[in-house]
Amino acid sequence: MVNAPPAFLEFFAGGGLARQGLEGLFSPNFANDIDPAKCAGYRLNFPGTPLHEGDIWNLRPGDLPPAALAWASFPCQDLSLAGARRGLNAPRSGAFWGFWNLLEGLAELERAPATLALENVPGLLSSHGGRDFSSLIATLAEGGYRVGAVMADAALFSPQSRQRLFIIAHRGRLPQGLVRGDADPVFHPQALRSAVEALPMDLRLAWTWWRLPHPPARNTDLASLLERSPPDDVWRSYAAVRKLMGQMSPLHRARVDAALADGSWRAGAVFRRTRTENGRRIQRAEVRYDGLAGCLRTPAGGSSKQLLIVTEGGEARLRPLLAVEAARLMGCSGDYALPKGETAALKMLGDGVCVPVVRWIGEHLLHPLATGRSGREVGAAA
Ligand SMILES: C[S@@+](CC[C@H](N)C(=O)[O-])C[C@H]1O[C@@H](n2cnc3c(N)ncnc32)[C@H](O)[C@@H]1O
Repeated sequence: MVNAPPAFLEFFAGGGLARQGLEGLFSPNFANDIDPAKCAGYRLNFPGTPLHEGDIWNLRPGDLPPAALAWASFPCQDLSLAGARRGLNAPRSGAFWGFWNLLEGLAELERAPATLALENVPGLLSSHGGRDFSSLIATLAEGGYRVGAVMADAALFSPQSRQRLFIIAHRGRLPQGLVRGDADPVFHPQALRSAVEALPMDLRLAWTWWRLPHPPARNTDLASLLERSPPDDVWRSYAAVRKLMGQMSPLHRARVDAALADGSWRAGAVFRRTRTENGRRIQRAEVRYDGLAGCLRTPAGGSSKQLLIVTEGGEARLRPLLAVEAARLMGCSGDYALPKGETAALKMLGDGVCVPVVRWIGEHLLHPLATGRSGREVGAAA
């Protein structure tokens, strides 16, 4: 007999990338997001899921159906190394407390989900000198949850460098085989180990090193996901190419020169960044040819847009990464419908979570936690 997938609540749902990763493992019976554009994208793809559009602080426990899992990719802007790092109590990342408020309400009704997955940037480990991480772990532990985390780089699965922190909490019996005695260098890198070592002793006792198998080697690279004949109007002018090259340090310029000399079709991923050199802040263009895209971000300003420098036959051309390519880098399914307009689509994708990473964690950790059965059994039965 095939059991129905357990139910899950998707908070901070965005375009529903977490939900895509959990497809078949969990059944979404409620989603919430405050952003009308994201909600439109979610509805477009998942019209059957009840989606509440609005501030998480306005939800009440009675609005939520019973569920085994709650997923919360809460906002990262106040925790990211790229921002002002105002922390877990700042207006945007503080939406976590809106989520926790609901969970406390559900706990009073004795129907809090037994498994929680919180996703954010690694900056959460170090913001406010580690105090934000410590207070989040303390909150979960006081709520009766066993807590651990894994850090996973999207590059394990898809050709994009995107390191994310997944805090997984569970209350109740732990199924066998999901806990390690010590940290695993792949999913528990030094930054996470150091943050855990800095926790107060009582919290270290509540800490769990979750066991996740290592995925097989990735078999795609950036070039394999790029459009070879994009529309003509995406290409920037030659003046823009020259300006970009002029913003490169000698090291980065040499990388492009090597690609030009090679002559074959090559694509390098470029980000503009402000760097301080000799006491002066200057804008630099940085290019990589390691087969990976840089971390996709929300295109809030020109500097956060990912560009591609494409060289062939000694000529260099420049264009932005397209939304369809970003969707491939995020591991979205081929039938995932993007919002109209490149900027809207890139914004939704840049805020998202990489689908195959969620799938791996869902299959090997969340589903076994929620059901006592491995996610592989589900895959085999489907
Ligand atoms: C990091 S994104 C999550 C993306 C999503 N997991 C995905 O993969 O598509 C954070 C989301 O939180 C939403 N958000 C921010 N503040 C909120 C609030 N107070 N209540 C509800 N949603 C909020 C944003 O609109 C954004 O879509």
